[in-house]
Amino acid sequence: MKLSAPQIAKKKVSNGAEPLVMITAYDEPSARFVEASGADLLLVGDSVANVVLGHEDTLHVSVRQMCHHIAAARIGAPNTHIVGDMPWMSYHTDVNDAVRAAAALVRAGADSVKLEGGRVRAEAISAILNAEIPVMGHLGLTPQSVMKFGGFKVQGREDEAAKEMVLDAKAIADLGVFSMVVEGVPAELGLEIGRAVSVPVIGIGAGADVDGQVLVFHDLLGLGNRKTAKFVRQYLNGAELMTSALREFGNDVRSGKFPSDEESY
Ligand code: KIV
Repeated sequence: MKLSAPQIAKKKVSNGAEPLVMITAYDEPSARFVEASGADLLLVGDSVANVVLGHEDTLHVSVRQMCHHIAAARIGAPNTHIVGDMPWMSYHTDVNDAVRAAAALVRAGADSVKLEGGRVRAEAISAILNAEIPVMGHLGLTPQSVMKFGGFKVQGREDEAAKEMVLDAKAIADLGVFSMVVEGVPAELGLEIGRAVSVPVIGIGAGADVDGQVLVFHDLLGLGNRKTAKFVRQYLNGAELMTSALREFGNDVRSGKFPSDEESY
């Protein structure tokens, strides 16, 4: 059964809920596999820019491209809550543009949207919530801040930065986000943020003591061509398995083993 944003908002481990499982997907087959796995949420992340479109960062994807992927994922996962990621610069300039971008993602098939940043994005978050579109927050190592951070670096290691992040978490929770991703922070800070807010914290590199975990489809299945972050657990060597199947096909074609009589008309 598809979870609604208000239902997800109640799923705190401290209230006895099971940890939430969120997995990214970007097209019909990947979304179909994610739904079949029983994940609670499917994120059509702007990580599509890295893992599908081959860019070095998440800055190279537009609202239109996100809609294209969300629409395909919706077909593959009709019964799973889909979070649509708001791409870089779709909510940074003008709140009306932010609402329009969020609405476009919903029309494409998202049940909610996710955007990065704390108090600095309060206006955009409020405007989207006022338009009655559920918002998931995203704090910590927010990939869209890569230029400001000077790379993909663990955030919140210093006391002051950690305090500011807790204040950001409380602020966006007070605005009404239904949950938040916390990425790339020390485990103690993940725990502290989880304790500070009443909505679920879904971690990615934020330790075990949060209300759920998210991983990127291609990282989890070993489909990427880059070194993954420390927080990734790879459950399959997908790249090797797929390449070997493709090589086998090539060998069969070259040796005349494919197609067989059964595979011919
Ligand atoms: O785009 C994405 O995949 C994300 C996850 C890393 C949370 O935002």
